[in-house]
Amino acid sequence: MNKFHIVILLVFVLGVLRASGLSENFYKDSCRQAETLVRNITWSRAQNDSRLGAKILRLHYHDCFVRGCDASILLDTAGTNAAAEKDARPNLSLLGFEVIDEIKSEIEKVCPQVVSCSDILALAARDAVSFPFKKKMWEVLTGRRDGTISLSSEVTGNLPGASSNFTTLKNIFAAKGLNVNDLVALSGAHTIGVSHCGPITRRLYNFTGNGDTDPSLDESYAATLKTQCPNPASAAITVEMDPQSSESFDAHYFTALKQHKGLFQSDASLLTDPASAKIVDSLLKPDSFFSEFGKSMKNMGQIELLTGSAGEIRTNCRVVNA
Ligand code: HEM
Ligand SMILES: *[C@@H]1O[C@H](CO)[C@@H](O)[C@H](O)[C@H]1NC(C)=O
Ligand SMILES: *[C@@H]1O[C@H](CO)[C@@H](O)[C@H](O)[C@H]1NC(C)=O
Ligand SMILES: *[C@@H]1O[C@H](CO)[C@@H](O)[C@H](O)[C@H]1NC(C)=O
Ligand SMILES: *[C@@H]1O[C@H](CO)[C@@H](O)[C@H](O)[C@H]1NC(C)=O
Ligand SMILES: *[C@@H]1O[C@H](CO)[C@@H](O)[C@H](O)[C@H]1NC(C)=O
Repeated sequence: MNKFHIVILLVFVLGVLRASGLSENFYKDSCRQAETLVRNITWSRAQNDSRLGAKILRLHYHDCFVRGCDASILLDTAGTNAAAEKDARPNLSLLGFEVIDEIKSEIEKVCPQVVSCSDILALAARDAVSFPFKKKMWEVLTGRRDGTISLSSEVTGNLPGASSNFTTLKNIFAAKGLNVNDLVALSGAHTIGVSHCGPITRRLYNFTGNGDTDPSLDESYAATLKTQCPNPASAAITVEMDPQSSESFDAHYFTALKQHKGLFQSDASLLTDPASAKIVDSLLKPDSFFSEFGKSMKNMGQIELLTGSAGEIRTNCRVVNA
């Protein structure tokens, strides 16, 4: 190896480090059982809660889009952390915090202050979604560290709303280093889970301000949604995002989308751009969806990371270390 090769190698190695700062099985030496513990506890809770995958996947998404994947979404409003992210409006109905707490406290018993809450969240999201398949549905790199700041004021503008158009979605994702492939693949997360009526009320009842319904929504589906979500609707009502398939992680979201049965305007907007619509077509097959979703989850899991000695390893995911 001559000088030239060494320079090339250095540039390459630095590039890889800069690209993520994460690695496979980061806790291999420092906490050998970490990933198995996350999976065991997540699976035991998933056994009793078929919605757990949706809950934790959404938590991980909200975490990564606001201040990066730093577990800021897990911090409670307290003391200096006045009005945390989880208390912002779009948090509406975030669930699954207690499972993350349980995993963290079990891991602290065997490896105190070694495993970050942000890694636990990324792993648990994967494991909860993977439970029905009994295998890992995507790889999760680890080595994230936890942030110390969580502000509800930072949620708006970082998390797109249900009525976002394609341009807005594309721009918000681009600001996170995610492209249109990622946007479409990750929107496929809506193949599981439910929504409250709030995010679709305007789309159903007052789309342009004239008491109308979004014409891009399938008519009979709109009629069904109106019976499920009367106007006004109780805050307790939820509707499936991928009708009849909302507990199975599959590619059916994209089939429904093409039938104009995407629940939100943001979902429907993926058909309004030709390049995006083509990606939708390419994800109709489960194998394609799973592999693209996995790649995009890896990208999402690397947004604005704290690694190395930045941030901290929280002992309790709800509060910053004293
Ligand atoms: C593209 C922009 C997105 C928008 C506008 C959006 C919007 C929403 C809204 C409004 C809800 C319903 C909340 C409620 O009222 O209960 C929801 C639920 C959900 N979202 Fe998204 N979302 C987006 C992207 C994502 C991404 C990237 C993921 C994950 C990778 C994700 C995962 C979920 C899950 C799993 C649920 C269901 C949660 C549950 O059942 O408890 N979303 N989303
Ligand atoms: C995880 O669960 C398996 C199967 O129940 C068990 O054999 C293993 O000891 C558990 N590992 C940890 C670290 O909890
Ligand atoms: C499982 O769920 C049932 C019903 O929701 C509940 O009664 C039971 O305590 C749960 N078991 C565990 C181990 O969480
Ligand atoms: C979400 O925010 C509301 C206030 O808008 C708050 O009452 C609620 O507790 C928050 N949800 C969670 C899970 O923290
Ligand atoms: C998309 O939404 C943004 C924000 O509401 C708006 O400024 C923009 O004009 C919209 N773009 C299109 C193409 O409708
Ligand atoms: C429909 O939207 C218009 C314009 O935003 C508003 O003035 C009107 O009050 C809304 N009607 C209902 C029933 O919400």
